Amino acid sequence: MTEIKTIAVLKGDYIGPEIMAAGLAVLAAVTKNTTFQYRLVALPFGGDGIDQAGDPLPAATLAQAQASDAILLSAIGGPKWDQAPKRPEQGLLALRAALGLYANIRPTRISDALVARSPLKPELARQTDFVIVRELTSGAYFGEPRVLAETYAIDTMAYQVSEISRIMHKGFRLAQRRRQHVTIVDKSNVLATSKLWRRVAREVAQDYPAVTVDYTYVDAMAMGIIARPATFDVIITPNLFGDILSDEAAQITGSIGQIPSMSIGESGPALYEPIHGSAPDIAGQGIANPMSMIHTVAMMLSESFGEKQLAQRVTAAVAQAIAAQVVTPDMGGQATTEAVTQYIVAAVTQPA
Ligand code: NAI
Ligand code: MG
Repeated sequence: MTEIKTIAVLKGDYIGPEIMAAGLAVLAAVTKNTTFQYRLVALPFGGDGIDQAGDPLPAATLAQAQASDAILLSAIGGPKWDQAPKRPEQGLLALRAALGLYANIRPTRISDALVARSPLKPELARQTDFVIVRELTSGAYFGEPRVLAETYAIDTMAYQVSEISRIMHKGFRLAQRRRQHVTIVDKSNVLATSKLWRRVAREVAQDYPAVTVDYTYVDAMAMGIIARPATFDVIITPNLFGDILSDEAAQITGSIGQIPSMSIGESGPALYEPIHGSAPDIAGQGIANPMSMIHTVAMMLSESFGEKQLAQRVTAAVAQAIAAQVVTPDMGGQATTEAVTQYIVAAVTQPA
């Protein structure tokens, strides 16, 4: 008997519910008549959590998310909760912390269908397919002391060997399943934490003899992402640098409405979400690009459930929609969220 997987659904705010509906429609279509069986548990979270339960991360939401096999989130936040005592975004930070999600994994892939949309020249953009593995729960955003005084301020960047080691293993293991190449990002010519980062990287690399490794300063990496994006496979970076590099990487795909992400810890469910926010400016108009959420569903199928073929069918269907110009206004088209979704639902339902 096949096990029924539980998926926690955090439908989010503003365009969140619109694109979540699209993602779930594609999930239902692609898994129909397959052995993959699942059960959805809708949980209030973010602004929706504040409205329904008075907290961006209600205790019951955390408990049920923790007990699920994977967590699917659209996007949260927006002006409606600007004056709330706790903001929706605090719910996300609290959820990541509670689940120990220390690795944030963001693919940047410029499919053939997307090459023409990239701000890079086609010959540079073509065959770009890398993954940024960003340390998410330590480094400059969490170090103590943190001081803001009248005439000075302090932030602290700190890393433990154990924190570096576990993110390195995540990245190297990922590279083993890909093109066997890792780029270590740091600023080890200046920063002590980066010297440690590089030392631990060298040690961990010995466990993965088949994986080739480059060591790169973050400033050189910022150039590399736009100058030779197709040469990277897995990029492992500390929190602060990863925040910046992953946004730069998103830009070279030419569309924020395309990119999924996964946050994962040592055990327990991973959290899947598009990289963009809740887009209050276009909410309720039926024109949000659902492709990011649909790619997010594909990533979940592949990474949490090992359903590589189903994931592949979803990704191929999205590429087909782009090639057919069935795209929303952010991608220069006129299609609605609904029309794009219906196209992709039909495409994944057709026999391959
Ligand atoms: P945003 O990513 O929501 O929007 C930036 C621009 O991209 C807007 O013009 C928006 O219309 C467009 N856009 C984003 N996703 C789109 C999609 N799927 N289809 C078409 N266009 C899309 O960033 P912004 O405006 O800075 O933030 C809005 C709210 O989202 C804020 O409350 C912010 O805190 C929150 N946010 C939440 C995140 C999350 O849930 N992880 C991440 C980033 C922001
Ligand atoms: Mg960012």
